[in-house]
Amino acid sequence: MVKKAELHVHLEGTTTPALVRKMAARNGTTLDPAIFKSDGEFAWTDFWDFLKCYDKAAATILTKDDYRLVTYDYLARCAREDAIYVEMFSSPDHAAEVGMSYADHLEGITAGIDDARAEYGIEGRIIVTCVRHFGASRALKVAQQFVAAPHPYVVGFGMGGDEAQFNPEDFAPAFNLVRDAGYQTTTHAGEFGGPVSIRASLDNLPVSRLGHGVRAIEDTTLLEEIVDRRIPLELCPGSNIATGLYDSREQHPFKALMDAGCVVTLNSDDPPFFATSIGQEYDCAARIYGLTEEELKNITRNALHSGFCDDALKEELLAKI
Ligand code: HPA
Ligand code: ZN
Repeated sequence: MVKKAELHVHLEGTTTPALVRKMAARNGTTLDPAIFKSDGEFAWTDFWDFLKCYDKAAATILTKDDYRLVTYDYLARCAREDAIYVEMFSSPDHAAEVGMSYADHLEGITAGIDDARAEYGIEGRIIVTCVRHFGASRALKVAQQFVAAPHPYVVGFGMGGDEAQFNPEDFAPAFNLVRDAGYQTTTHAGEFGGPVSIRASLDNLPVSRLGHGVRAIEDTTLLEEIVDRRIPLELCPGSNIATGLYDSREQHPFKALMDAGCVVTLNSDDPPFFATSIGQEYDCAARIYGLTEEELKNITRNALHSGFCDDALKEELLAKI
């Protein structure tokens, strides 16, 4: 089986309906039944409704041990699909919403990474993210917490959320603070925002990767720049189809971006919400885009070379491919 690596997955978005129900039961919290469909899967209608459903599911992660469990559960699922490395987005803002400190949030995730490594040999690292639609001042606060408390597993900074809100330049103070402290960064761009959003992100933020970036395919000049500068794309085909950006995997520009010379990676984004997994993303790439085993391995190599973890870990992981 091809070894896999993932760079774009929202930890709070990895919770399965079963895990959400389990945490609610053990914490004695009441769940909004509207977050589930009659078949038990998450219920949402479009991207913006997804973000609301995601927030409600994330609000069931109440304790440090919940974060440990969510992390462990996700990494265990990945390891069973032959993933060897996962760089996961964590959201201190979502933890703060339920009254959890930045330190407890990270301690819980760290324990989950350690437990999964001990049992499955899988490695994990954390990218602390801010949430674009929460605004620039909250983003700056997350960045300040980030630089004030370095953590061995926290390897970078990122931004998710609604691309339609605010402008990338509004978040430059947060991103620059983190960059000046010596860290690499990534931002969601070119998902719902289109190529203009990618341009604005590259011009205003010190990012070394793009979350999605898929809509660079709509702008030849931009695409050439992304290829020339070897800016890795965190592509999430299953997510893009689930949220209605493309009608089918056949119509998704994954292969076109790869053939244009982009550094492409495969990612699951929010797997139970989008009915996907890292394993399914690789399987579909093989089946639908006709990727060979060597091409799939190269996607894993792309992910490891583009990871924000240290070189010694990258070498160790690359040797496993
Ligand atoms: N896109 C943007 N923001 C997000 C997502 C996503 O898929 N998941 C959680 N926050
Ligand atoms: Zn995402």
